[in-house]
Amino acid sequence: VFAHVVQAPEDPILGVTVAYNKDPSPNKLNLGVGAYRTEEGKPLVLNVVRRAEQQLVNDRSRVKEYLPIIGLAEFNKLSAKLIFGAESPAILENRVTTVQCLSGTGSLRVGAEFLARHYHERTIYIPVPTWGNHPKVFTLGGLSVKTYRYYDPATRGLNFQGLLEDLGSAPSGAIVLLHACAHNPTGVDPTLEQWEQIRQLMRSKGLLPFFDSAYQGFASGRLDADAQSIRMFVADGGECLVAQSYAKNMGLYGERVGAFSIVCKSADVARRVESQLKLVIRPMYSNPPIHGASIVATILRDRDMYNEWTVELKAMADRIISMRHELFDALRARGTPGDWSHIIKQIGMFTFTGLNSEQVAFMTKEYHIYMTSDGRISMAGLSSRTVPHLADAIHAAVTR
Ligand code: LMR
Repeated sequence: VFAHVVQAPEDPILGVTVAYNKDPSPNKLNLGVGAYRTEEGKPLVLNVVRRAEQQLVNDRSRVKEYLPIIGLAEFNKLSAKLIFGAESPAILENRVTTVQCLSGTGSLRVGAEFLARHYHERTIYIPVPTWGNHPKVFTLGGLSVKTYRYYDPATRGLNFQGLLEDLGSAPSGAIVLLHACAHNPTGVDPTLEQWEQIRQLMRSKGLLPFFDSAYQGFASGRLDADAQSIRMFVADGGECLVAQSYAKNMGLYGERVGAFSIVCKSADVARRVESQLKLVIRPMYSNPPIHGASIVATILRDRDMYNEWTVELKAMADRIISMRHELFDALRARGTPGDWSHIIKQIGMFTFTGLNSEQVAFMTKEYHIYMTSDGRISMAGLSSRTVPHLADAIHAAVTR
């Protein structure tokens, strides 16, 4: 009965790792998926995460019971504080509902399904380009996806005029997906002044902001600064949705730990919204896993561990920045044609190189360097040892 099923293509991002794993070359380099690697090219478990896990293991009173449908209560509270700020009026007025979800993707999906059931407008505007999974998550979640201009390939920066025009002509009430910081894949963020203009435009038109925050701490190295865009939208008293991930900033990729929040107009509305979120979650995966959320709660509740986390997070962000400089210098040293200053200007985990899909295919075939076909490279996968190899490959790709 399944004979008609056709072979599906690999995922454009996770499929890069599948291809990389099959390559026997000792020089192969995976710059596809956004996952942090050490200078030695190894995955990193943060020391503070190891400490938290040890503490959890030593606590014999811990059991493996089901969590409530919305997850670990303390995790939810601490996650809301982390993203909105401890002094956020929305939190103090109990207008925020936060539910533990399966990392950023799961949070986006729960948000989409909630909106499809309870919001009057089904259209969500996503930036061009955006994370490859966004359109699929929202479409399958029951929303209809439209786009707004974001990146300008000519300047390798923000197409702010295009963005304002497209959001300006969106129908009133439409949902708008915004990357809170460290835009994936471009590494290009609006300035705070531009965020303020976006906010004013969106509020004046009644557009509903849905933030994807997957990189808090990775843009500037500071957690509060990287939540600024969201906090501007909360400060004006309006509604706002946020999907939060701990994959990158705590290195908890495979633990699938994240949170979805809705800032409502009143505590009463927030309570009712939460009751409906439970109806979305229960038939989907019943309730979320306990381990990752317990690690996060252990770290966020303890001042000493929290401080250790911020130091380790900053070290990851700084290493990525130094990789940007090393790659830029290596291309300059080779006299590679083109202006590569965007490598040091862009922020977060990725550089949107401007290389086209043929050049990417060439680098994979000849240099065993794996990256997404849109020319995005994960700077977090690079090290001083591998920069020369990448620079040689880029040089060869653009001069052939
Ligand atoms: C990425 O963009 O590489 C990450 O967000 C990982 C993923 O799930 O695609």
